[in-house]
Amino acid sequence: MNPLLDVNDRGDLDPALRPRRFAEFVGQGRIVDNLRVYVRAALARGEALDHVLLAGPPGLGKTSLAQILGEELGVPCTIASGPTLERKGDLAAVLSNLEPRQVLFIDEIHRMPRAVEEVLYPAREDYQLDVILGSGPAAHSVRLPLSRFTLVGATTRTGLLTSPLRARFGIHCTFDFYRPDELERILIRAAEKLGVVATMDGLRELASRSRGTPRVATRLLRRVRDFAQVEGDGTIDGNSTRSALNRLDIDPKGLDSLDQRILETIEIKFSGGPVGLDTLAAALGESKDTIEDASEPYLLQLGFLQRTPRGRMLTPAARAHLGLPPRAETDDPQTRLIP
Ligand SMILES: Nc1ncnc2c1ncn2[C@@H]1O[C@H](COP(=O)(O)OP(=O)(O)OP(=O)(O)O)[C@@H](O)[C@H]1O
Ligand SMILES: [Mg+2]
Repeated sequence: MNPLLDVNDRGDLDPALRPRRFAEFVGQGRIVDNLRVYVRAALARGEALDHVLLAGPPGLGKTSLAQILGEELGVPCTIASGPTLERKGDLAAVLSNLEPRQVLFIDEIHRMPRAVEEVLYPAREDYQLDVILGSGPAAHSVRLPLSRFTLVGATTRTGLLTSPLRARFGIHCTFDFYRPDELERILIRAAEKLGVVATMDGLRELASRSRGTPRVATRLLRRVRDFAQVEGDGTIDGNSTRSALNRLDIDPKGLDSLDQRILETIEIKFSGGPVGLDTLAAALGESKDTIEDASEPYLLQLGFLQRTPRGRMLTPAARAHLGLPPRAETDDPQTRLIP
């Protein structure tokens, strides 16, 4: 498998929507403000920027920010993906081709095989590559010097990074979900770029139902545009947005069908929980990764889900959202178990 990814892979159909510079990147103010300082300092010293770890749920702009770092530093950005770096040689080939001070972006760095990860340690700290030449008794190792580069790693799950890998990043950035007003600004820009006619009411509705995620916002914008074009006069307004989002099964809080199924399954099949992740995944016919990466962070942020040592539980807020009456004390499985 080619370990280098096309920049526009991962379903981003419209590369034009990707922000290219800090100034175009909406939100995540603290992260961007700090990175601006680190970039200016590195440029002033003529050095490579320290290694950067970007962590957060999918679609919040990690890949975009990695590419922006390349742009702002005025250096190329090579993109690789953790799971496709299958053998040590894959990573060694990428590393030995890096130019001085350039950015190497490794997406899903938590899914890089452990043996490959070990190649990264001397590369990242001493800018050296250990290569084994020959095999058997004649085998010997040589150290090749590498260019000083900036590693930008992205992960949806900081908890899955080994501690040596995590500790060796000098700059840690944890992304938050976006506020509705930030998503609104992203949508205004996207509507302009796509040449979509939209009212503020329509974009506000979209922003409030995009689960705090720019990628969801721009994807929904394209779908709502389809409905408006075929079934209306092409304008995205409040009414056309609401009716399109209802048909897409996006509820008023922005929960998609997987989020809704998770809540309903915990409530109906497991009496509100607690239920272990394995059991929940089996009941839903989904992978644990999909639940943990794509759905849970937002449900936790809304306060709809609680993670307890015994498993996932629905909260009173989730019950209210589902239109269910509050659970009676005796209904609480925690209480029920006590004789
Ligand atoms: N801060 C932002 N401002 C404007 N648009 C954004 C921003 N963040 C993300 N986007 C939009 O969302 C899309 C997805 O972002 P991106 O691919 O960078 O997310 P990601 O965090 O790398 O996701 P994944 O974890 O799935 O790889 C971008 O192509 C862009 O259109
Ligand atoms: Mg990405």
